[in-house]
Amino acid sequence: MIIKHITKTSLLLGLFALLGCSLVALSFQFTFEQIEENERAKLLSTLNQLVPTSQYDNDLFNDTRMIKNEIVYRARKAKKPVAAIMTAVAPDGYNGRIRLLIAINYKGSLIGVRVLSHQETPGLGDKIELRRSNWILTFNERSLTNPNQAAWKVKRDGGEFDQLTGATITPRAVVKAVYKTLVFYQQNRDFVFAI
Ligand SMILES: Cc1cc2nc3c(=O)[nH]c(=O)nc-3n(C[C@H](O)[C@H](O)[C@H](O)COP(=O)(O)O)c2cc1C
Repeated sequence: MIIKHITKTSLLLGLFALLGCSLVALSFQFTFEQIEENERAKLLSTLNQLVPTSQYDNDLFNDTRMIKNEIVYRARKAKKPVAAIMTAVAPDGYNGRIRLLIAINYKGSLIGVRVLSHQETPGLGDKIELRRSNWILTFNERSLTNPNQAAWKVKRDGGEFDQLTGATITPRAVVKAVYKTLVFYQQNRDFVFAI
């Protein structure tokens, strides 16, 4: 009798535990998918800020290529390449890695740059974010020849790009990463757009 009771209680407990675990797993899966969906929507809206939908007619979000762990979105119109939008990392921010989205038109000029994520200090390094200041717009229409190589530095280092007030390390890291991405693009343009 007692054994039967214990078995029944154990079974019930097991059932509740299983139910609890399943609910947690399900809600985790749902939250995870929701976060992924939100990040995807945010990225797509940033992509379209840089390259407006009128300028391409392909499935930009899925016309991608992985190069050295970074993703390249290719914009095309009537099958002709229009722009490459590449993720890149500036590894040497004041407080670690700064993730960037860099849009380059087919000829190799920058359409623009946006910061995807960073841990720079609020009020100092975070002015690289467009919602904090216009500093990041300084890259619009720049290229490997505008300015020339020697001037692809912050002013403090003898270059052409403004630093931020009280914060030189962050912009220095971003300028360096954008320049490196332009060089990579120039050397690998055909590869970037290959199907
Ligand atoms: C608490 C603290 C946080 C800082 N955060 C940043 C930052 O996010 N980015 C940055 O470039 N410099 C930051 N700095 C300043 C750097 O240490 C460095 O002094 C500065 O980048 C050099 O620029 P400056 O020559 O224009 O002062 C911070 C300094 C302190 C004390």
